[in-house]
Amino acid sequence: MSVVVLISGRGSNMEALLDAQVPVSAVLSNRADAKGLAIAAARGVPTAVVEHQRFSTREAFEHALGQEIDRLAPRLVALAGFMRILTPAFARRYAGRMLNIHPSLLPELPGLHTHERALAAGAAKHGCTVHFVTAELDHGPIVIQAEVPVRASDTAATLAARVLRQEHVIYPRAVRWFLDDRLVIEGDKVRVKGNDAQVLASSD
Ligand code: GRF
Repeated sequence: MSVVVLISGRGSNMEALLDAQVPVSAVLSNRADAKGLAIAAARGVPTAVVEHQRFSTREAFEHALGQEIDRLAPRLVALAGFMRILTPAFARRYAGRMLNIHPSLLPELPGLHTHERALAAGAAKHGCTVHFVTAELDHGPIVIQAEVPVRASDTAATLAARVLRQEHVIYPRAVRWFLDDRLVIEGDKVRVKGNDAQVLASSD
């Protein structure tokens, strides 16, 4: 029934999963200095570090990471601010059981610096997405999205904070749906059994 969470930094999405009583069996990081590791440890969640810098190739790093994950035999791998690009082989290995949270309304703004780019584009709305991980970066079937307004006074920091509050809402919800066997991947779409809303609009 368990979930392994992969982080690289702050770990606030991981914390949101823990706050929502998601059964997290371990938190793994590719960086020893990831702040979220201390948060997980303080909450009694086992942690481990697989430092990508110790490996000469992406494949060797992923082999070690995969061994660590498989040792834990999780039902789900949840990427939560995990800042490594994964090879297609790694995505295939966990196909249908690896989720990611991305700070934009995919397919808009894949990649980095989404808040700056949303502002630069003059977008009226922005948001976040939980999706299954596939070989193509930030392109897998979408489970749930939350939209937020972009305000005239926004900076990248204020916009990021507004989006992050919604990340903490949608990620636990998506993970719970997965664990409850309510997600059905149909081609490039995801259906939620019971028809719960897959697009939330926040006026926050
Ligand atoms: C979040 O904005 C997430 O969407 C992105 O990286 C950030 C991670 O934040 N993938 P945190 O480590 O969960 O606080």
